[in-house]
Amino acid sequence: MNLNAITARIDQLRKQRNAVILAHYYQRPEVQDVADFVGDSLDLSRKAAATTADVIVFCGVHFMAETAKILAPSKTVLIPDENAACPMANMLTVRELRQFKAQYPDAITVAYVNCSAAVKAEVDICCTSANAPKVVASLPKNRPILFVPDQSLGDFINRKFGFSMILWPGFCPTHHRFLQRDINDMRAAHPHALLCVHPECTRDVIDQADFVGSTSQIINFCSSSPASEFIIGTEQGILHPLKKRNPSKNFYHLSPLATCSNMKLTTLEKIIWSLEDMIYEISIPEDIRQRAFNAVHRMIQIV
Ligand code: 13P
Ligand code: SF4
Repeated sequence: MNLNAITARIDQLRKQRNAVILAHYYQRPEVQDVADFVGDSLDLSRKAAATTADVIVFCGVHFMAETAKILAPSKTVLIPDENAACPMANMLTVRELRQFKAQYPDAITVAYVNCSAAVKAEVDICCTSANAPKVVASLPKNRPILFVPDQSLGDFINRKFGFSMILWPGFCPTHHRFLQRDINDMRAAHPHALLCVHPECTRDVIDQADFVGSTSQIINFCSSSPASEFIIGTEQGILHPLKKRNPSKNFYHLSPLATCSNMKLTTLEKIIWSLEDMIYEISIPEDIRQRAFNAVHRMIQIV
């Protein structure tokens, strides 16, 4: 099938199933282009909660599709490739979290949404990279705070906003691929460009950036900035919406190695198969879903 035929088939199935296709900014360009809505983790969870569609096809990774199911339990949530997992989310099991919490019995636990539904069910509140400072600032000041699973995001919030959260040592292997050499090379090649990075990057990279923010915050910053050249330190898929929205500006990826292979598992063909065969359906035991809902819902209420 050529691209037009593939797109036509997706449109036909989307109508037939009364489905909405949601895609994260790290998805392949052609997947972003067929989606009804493209966004960051926070935008996508809000869209999932508000949709009137019967079916949500989630083009992202497993924890994102699970978050959609947590918020929209009556919908059928499909992930086109069941292997699209997030390695960071897999760096914290429920057992490990319980052991961590047991060491700090008075603590409040905040989980970055990049974790499983079962982990969300054990925490007090969730956050995304777009709202983490606001969520942490909303918590009581007289209790310790545990932050899981992303050490880099937690460290960034601690240092920028003066918190002293206790951090779980998880990390994003994709965002940790940016090296000092990449910054040196790209700054030398593009001396007028602003360096924009995601808070999942290492402390060394963050400290050299002109702007640090979530995917949507990077897009907004670059779109509204008077500058015309940007070096982008997050997953490579974001270059697509950046270039689309800002055709007269130049964007350079900080390193070609920073590609999330899990995000790239979704293809147009797999979206077709997903809608044809209603695969792969996300299911979460109801008691876990309800407890995870409380943590995600608290976050949504704050922001
Ligand atoms: P945001 O889209 O919330 O910035 O998250 C980035 C990410 O790592 C998603 O996997
Ligand atoms: Fe997980 Fe990092 Fe990939 Fe996001 S980019 S899905 S955090 S591995």
